[in-house]
Amino acid sequence: MFPTHRPRRLRRTPALRRLVAETSLEPRHLVLPMFVADGIDTPREISSMPGVFQHTLDSLRSAAVEAVEAGVGGLMLFGVPKAEDKDPQGSGASDPDGILNVGLRALAEELGDSTVIMADTCLDEFTDHGHCGVLNATGAVDNDATLIRYVEMALAQAESGAHLLGPSGMMDGQVAAIRGALDASGYVEVGQLAYAAKYASAFYGPFREAVGSSLQGDRRTYQQDGANRRESMREVDLDVAEGADMVMVKPAMSYLDILRETADRSPVPVAAYQISGEYSMITAAAQNGWIDRDAAILESLTSIRRAGADVVLTYWASEVAGWL
Ligand code: PBG
Repeated sequence: MFPTHRPRRLRRTPALRRLVAETSLEPRHLVLPMFVADGIDTPREISSMPGVFQHTLDSLRSAAVEAVEAGVGGLMLFGVPKAEDKDPQGSGASDPDGILNVGLRALAEELGDSTVIMADTCLDEFTDHGHCGVLNATGAVDNDATLIRYVEMALAQAESGAHLLGPSGMMDGQVAAIRGALDASGYVEVGQLAYAAKYASAFYGPFREAVGSSLQGDRRTYQQDGANRRESMREVDLDVAEGADMVMVKPAMSYLDILRETADRSPVPVAAYQISGEYSMITAAAQNGWIDRDAAILESLTSIRRAGADVVLTYWASEVAGWL
């Protein structure tokens, strides 16, 4: 009538629980995604992501310094060009005076090697049609023509001081194309955090507002189908073979199984991106008083770490690093 096995013994006090916790969350595990916008005078709050801002160059610098002082592992920068500067080729992405490259130089000047500066290497913020690549005559995303643009963009980002580039467009061969161009241009030390397993997800919704994207249609011809698992392992293997220094799974919370499998097989460090919709869901539920905000944030981040992420990109990075 009495149980022989009592797992509750190790849960009785906070000290016992702390002693046996398998997963840790430290500031260095967290990367803060940031948005820098062209043509604004004051930071603009993203209405679908309360608490997240499109930054001016000045507020970008101060928020970045704050994050680094809180101990975050790195920063991932996205650019938000003016609507009138967008075109079919996403020219602003490779223009040294484009907002993302200007923002990267500001971060590099402010922070140098004291943190890890990462850049989103993708065209969707810069194209007028909102796709991650350039289109062919039929309106489909042209893989190989897009690689040429990614190479131009990558070289501009390396020149602007990014330590790690984040190719996120899911074009075939993007990691190899960028690696080859970086090496040929002397940027052998600039690495890639490759978005290896990136799914077409409804949870990117708020990001569209964050970067002012005007996407027509969807990304299902290049981002992965959420029904698939094996395909992710193939993408991870290809990216590693093409020279990825780290690989990423994205989104995080709906894809923890993929994250675990990636972590088990990857020879390089693994990141996961807790994306805009994940941020907004928790924020909205907390604002309604339906969940305990801080506990939900910590639980979500711990689950992503437990599933195998070495690094977690999260819009709460700065705040959570401050708590830890
Ligand atoms: C592509 C990119 C996207 C996100 C990061 N990089 C948008 C997309 O693929 O549709 C989404 C990030 C988020 O939702 O927080 N530039």
